[in-house]
Amino acid sequence: MKFLILGDVCGPPGMRAIKLRLNEIIEKNKIDFTIINGENAAENGKGLTIENFKDLISSGANVVTSGNHIWDQKEILEIIDKEKKLIRPENFLDGQPGSGIGIYDVKDKKIAVINLIGNVFMKKSNDLFLSAEKIINKIILKKNVDFIVIDLHAEITSEKMALGHYLDGKVTSVVGTHTHVPTADYKILEKGTAYQTDLGMCGDYNSVIGMNKENSIKKFKKNPLATGHFPAEGAASICGVIVDADDKTGLAKKISQIIVSGESNLES
Ligand SMILES: [Fe+2]
Repeated sequence: MKFLILGDVCGPPGMRAIKLRLNEIIEKNKIDFTIINGENAAENGKGLTIENFKDLISSGANVVTSGNHIWDQKEILEIIDKEKKLIRPENFLDGQPGSGIGIYDVKDKKIAVINLIGNVFMKKSNDLFLSAEKIINKIILKKNVDFIVIDLHAEITSEKMALGHYLDGKVTSVVGTHTHVPTADYKILEKGTAYQTDLGMCGDYNSVIGMNKENSIKKFKKNPLATGHFPAEGAASICGVIVDADDKTGLAKKISQIIVSGESNLES
């Protein structure tokens, strides 16, 4: 089973890139299942609208994951409970709508996608490691499902790496999202779990993590003329990984990084 897992779609350039190129990437790489973090897809880079979600699915995503900005576009509350292809971090504090676990049937196989959020430098959530342990004791690889892919939306590298090692051999893949900066550490861990600290984003890199760079600098300089962050508007890149997983074990055979221009049909 071949998975394409893409980092946070950031603002209009990210959406344009996905609409323009996702299909071609899926076909060229013979992808069976595509997971995209849509948490910054809205016009202002915060959350995603219902239209963004529909566009991501119609462009080829099988499931859309999210993170701390999921409630920023209030209309998403209208669909979060009924739309099984949209998940939010499972370890959000209790009582919030939606779910962080999706199980999908593809080619006679069951794929579990789990969205989690980090505890360090993020809004208060339930304990990441206890939550992950609880889920993995309930959803067991090759007993309940054939593959388990985890999107860990978190700020710091050590927390992501620790969770990767903690779940090594128990899940197909652990990948990080949220920082918008692709890390160069994609690999298969000792017991067979594919791992990357951060996938990067689908957005304009002539920016500060997808946001307008001039305004970001003003903000850091505490310039009173700075406004709220808003997305950069140039050409986007599409960033993520392709994980080729063994149908028999559910573990990874290969992980490769994908970083391509989202604005043209030229070879990456
Ligand atoms: Fe985020």
